[in-house]
Amino acid sequence: MEESVIKMLKVVNIKKKYGEFEVLKDISFEIKKGTIYGFLGPNGSGKSTTMNILSGLIDFNGGEIYLGGENFKKNKRRLLKKVGYLPQDPVFYNYMNANEYLHFIGEISNMTEKNIRERTIEILEIVKLTEPAKRKIGQYSGGMKQRLGIAVALFNKPEIVFLDEPTSALDPEGRMEILEFIKKLKSEGTTVFMSTHILSDIERVCDHVSILDKGKILVSDNLENLKNKYIQPIFDIEFEKPCAKLDSILLNFRWVESVLIRENKASIYVNNLEIAKSELLKFLVQGENTILSYELRKSNLEDIFIRLVNENENL
Ligand SMILES: Nc1ncnc2c1ncn2[C@@H]1O[C@H](COP(=O)(O)OP(=O)(O)OP(=O)(O)O)[C@@H](O)[C@H]1O
Ligand SMILES: [Mg+2]
Repeated sequence: MEESVIKMLKVVNIKKKYGEFEVLKDISFEIKKGTIYGFLGPNGSGKSTTMNILSGLIDFNGGEIYLGGENFKKNKRRLLKKVGYLPQDPVFYNYMNANEYLHFIGEISNMTEKNIRERTIEILEIVKLTEPAKRKIGQYSGGMKQRLGIAVALFNKPEIVFLDEPTSALDPEGRMEILEFIKKLKSEGTTVFMSTHILSDIERVCDHVSILDKGKILVSDNLENLKNKYIQPIFDIEFEKPCAKLDSILLNFRWVESVLIRENKASIYVNNLEIAKSELLKFLVQGENTILSYELRKSNLEDIFIRLVNENENL
């Protein structure tokens, strides 16, 4: 009993195949009630596939899902009432206005006429679409459509909401609005699972993050731990010419953790800052390749992401 109170969602070894192609390979994670969980991964890593499975749109080939402690597959119809979903590319009927569209959503959710009317007014207010609600959806901007998609996802007051790239179509101001809104959902007790490419969005709102690559979860941790564990000093060096072979030489030093080379730029992750400060430049100037710039910085979530995905690439 207690377990179900704490864990809103538990995903255990989910597998998904399209023909021979394994899109998801034993995905496991848990989401605590009332938290915001970020799902980060490059294009094609399997984020939307995971979300489609969790919102009951597609089936899976192995593993278990528990929602509020109950088996998802066995109680799917009932449990889906607790779930809201914003797909990556929501499809609307452009000839309808927002009022009509939300009415339609309420009807297919079997809500009463009175509840539909009240909830429509309420949710339009929440996503700030009250004023344009009588205009045709076809005339909405990307941001307005995104907010309408969120209104649809929240229409039945879900306990957990899956948001697939909720901010990707938006300008910075629109993104901030949606992120503030997501934080508000959390403060009201709604659990949020959101996928994104935008790392700063994760840093801004998420409590917990999983990094997905090629259908596998590379790390899963709370944001604080992740930063403490993976954040390292990085030296960014720019050379005049490409520096392709530099990594194999640098990796011989014990104080070098990993090296990322992109043409004439190298990012060198070190585990001993003091030694690196005194040794790195000394070593580099011995080479033939002229150094154009040399900079020390602290890694952020983006660096962690790029490094982990790169390491996975080289496995
Ligand atoms: N219906 C399908 N049939 C075959 N392969 C599919 C199908 N749907 C998705 N895939 C493949 O599964 C992989 C994961 O796709 P998915 O859409 O889940 O990735 P994603 O992480 O959401 O990517 P993006 O960041 O681009 O949205 C991709 O290689 C994709 O081509
Ligand atoms: Mg996707």
